[in-house]
Amino acid sequence: MSTLITGIGELVTNDPATGEGPLGIVRDAALVLDGDTVAWTGPAAGAPDADERFDAGGRAVLPGFVDSHAHLVFAGERAEEFAARMSGEPYAAGGIRTTVARTRAASDGELRATVRRLVAEMARQGTTTVECKSGYGLTVEQEERAVRIAAEYADEVTYLGAHVVPEGADAASYTRLAAGEMLAACAPHARWVDVFCERGAFDADQAREILEAGIKAGLTPRLHANQLTEGPAVRLAVDLDAASADHCTFLSDADVDALASSQTVATLLPGVEFSTRQPYPDARRLLDAGAAVALASDCNPGSCYSSSMAFCVAVAVRDMRMTPAEAVWSATAGGARALRRTDVGRLAPGARADVHVLDAPSHIHLAYRPGVPLTKAVWKKGARVT
Ligand code: NIG
Ligand code: FE
Repeated sequence: MSTLITGIGELVTNDPATGEGPLGIVRDAALVLDGDTVAWTGPAAGAPDADERFDAGGRAVLPGFVDSHAHLVFAGERAEEFAARMSGEPYAAGGIRTTVARTRAASDGELRATVRRLVAEMARQGTTTVECKSGYGLTVEQEERAVRIAAEYADEVTYLGAHVVPEGADAASYTRLAAGEMLAACAPHARWVDVFCERGAFDADQAREILEAGIKAGLTPRLHANQLTEGPAVRLAVDLDAASADHCTFLSDADVDALASSQTVATLLPGVEFSTRQPYPDARRLLDAGAAVALASDCNPGSCYSSSMAFCVAVAVRDMRMTPAEAVWSATAGGARALRRTDVGRLAPGARADVHVLDAPSHIHLAYRPGVPLTKAVWKKGARVT
């Protein structure tokens, strides 16, 4: 089945060879989807015919958002912890243990229902590629269950057994478990290995041990880095050629230089700083140095319970010194780069048919009209979602 989308006022291709500027914008455009793939893009006048038609009515059409960082396998929520933070309590990684207890007690069916609900919530807001981490199980069986369930619904699965040291365990023996038996159980369901490398979680030596074991098991590293403090995690990520260093809230000049001269993407998660009342990361500093920047939601019940990529774009423009075009690129093509994917985050023949029609004439409206639901229609792998 093929679909012709006509009447596109502004088509964001993310392919500078196809259109204007870094977003590769084509005006008065059309797009043809054939099965799960983009078959054709270009000026409307030259469009081929298709089985079905959708008139975009002059609206903007973007690649679906690529949310490259989320923690969706959990039970319960922590609204009270959020309220306490807003009255002055600091964010502490220890809150993770509250969710661990709830998650361990939940049935497979309950966990599946939550992941399914959140992936659907994301799709309704234009997110068509989702990365999902484990990390609220922290035993071999529970982490294996988390990555197995994540793989049923998410496009990309990350083993994060080293999220925090569970209650009653010591860091050294838990590190051995996470790099050994737990990794072996989880690796078949995952593509990525991640560690929360931070004071109060895992130090750089422990993170290196787990990430190197993950690499040996065939996984590629990505890292929770420099979220709460300016530590060694970003440089460790670059050193291991990680696909992404995520958070990057507190960076030294050496961290910025390391990122800029590497293939490691700096993935910024502004929803976390919003929901923990921390300073926002400085995207401009990274971009000016030449680093690649992605934006992602970090949707999780603790540090940011928002799945909205549009919200991330708006905050990145308002408070992180990104232009609307840079923020839109980072939430689509940037996320794809952070996941080392070339089939998503762009609209060109051969790309996955992931299409986001905005109820607005241009991508700028995502930042210009914050908080307004601007998703008009979404196709994921060629299937209409909303
Ligand atoms: O990315 N930083 C560590 N992990 C999550 C928070 C998880 C939680 O608070 O439950 C994050 O912010
Ligand atoms: Fe996270």
